[in-house]
Amino acid sequence: MNDIQRAAALLRAGELVGIPTETVYGLAADASNPAAVAKIFAAKGRPADHPLIVHLPDASHLDRWAVDIPDSARQLAAAFWPGPLTLILKRADGVSDVVTGGQDTVGLRVPSHPLALELLREFDGGLAAPSANRFGRISPTTAAHVREELGERVAMVLDGGPCAVGIESTILDLSGDAPAILRPGMLDTDAIARVLGREPEFRGREDSPRVSGSLEAHYAPRTPLRLVASGQLLAAVQQALAQGQRLAVLARQPAPAAVAGLYWRSASADFSAYAHDLYASLRQLDTVGADLILVEAPPADEHWRAVADRLGRSAAGSGAG
Ligand code: TXA
Ligand code: MG
Repeated sequence: MNDIQRAAALLRAGELVGIPTETVYGLAADASNPAAVAKIFAAKGRPADHPLIVHLPDASHLDRWAVDIPDSARQLAAAFWPGPLTLILKRADGVSDVVTGGQDTVGLRVPSHPLALELLREFDGGLAAPSANRFGRISPTTAAHVREELGERVAMVLDGGPCAVGIESTILDLSGDAPAILRPGMLDTDAIARVLGREPEFRGREDSPRVSGSLEAHYAPRTPLRLVASGQLLAAVQQALAQGQRLAVLARQPAPAAVAGLYWRSASADFSAYAHDLYASLRQLDTVGADLILVEAPPADEHWRAVADRLGRSAAGSGAG
């Protein structure tokens, strides 16, 4: 038996498997087995009323999971699947409340990682999979991160190398009157708008309490994290050092001369490269023994929206021990 067959067998037996996707690693269970899906919540320490994304082998599976599917959903699926786009649609009869958090909608996507696709084809069904981190913490982008987060809570981790995209999929709600982005991702909003023939709206966390990625505290390191505007970064560093704090910095701008108590990690000025490295960088900065992590705020530009979203939530949730 190869790794894919072993993973599929474990999933059929109701076990949890850590799987690589192009965005982040997922914690997968058989989406048609409520007892298996319930194990996901226990392993993550996640509230049980939070809905999960169901991963499918291809768009032909859509009708098993959703009803009243608008043409726009099929067009988006044709344009972006496999890929980092999750569609929220009205759920089909028989889709478990454990998966949907009791809502009448379901989140669906076809991931583009070759191993995830191979596994989904072998499994030939839907896999419910949230990001494979403990609730509120930084999402994993390598197999080693999944082991750090979940240890023996997961029967197997399929190692597919570092994730290509690095942050979670764009979530687009097509279940209402107007298409709405519930969570920005690395898919270009203009490209989505071109397929939709209209601009999607952005719906804030106030309106979508059920999107756990939209709770304010999320993606969080244990060390307190603060965002600082580019022009104020060096002054903030000087001030914190003068107060005797040990600092870790993540910045696009060049490092100043080395001084004691300052750990500087250079980040890319390119938004996709930045997103690719973001979670691994935060994880590493959380281990250098700093009292405070300072992050240079990202540019106020549409391309940086998803990164800015994750950094804002990581700052809000940071410092919880
Ligand atoms: O890139 C991704 O989407 C990754 C990989 C593993 O596919 N998954 C991921 O899952 O980020 P998770 O559970 O960490 O975040 C999924 C988000 C949650 O915020 C959840 O609330 C939302 O999707 N979601 C799922 N079903 C939904 C629904 N029916 N209505 C609204 N939001 C939903
Ligand atoms: Mg998550």
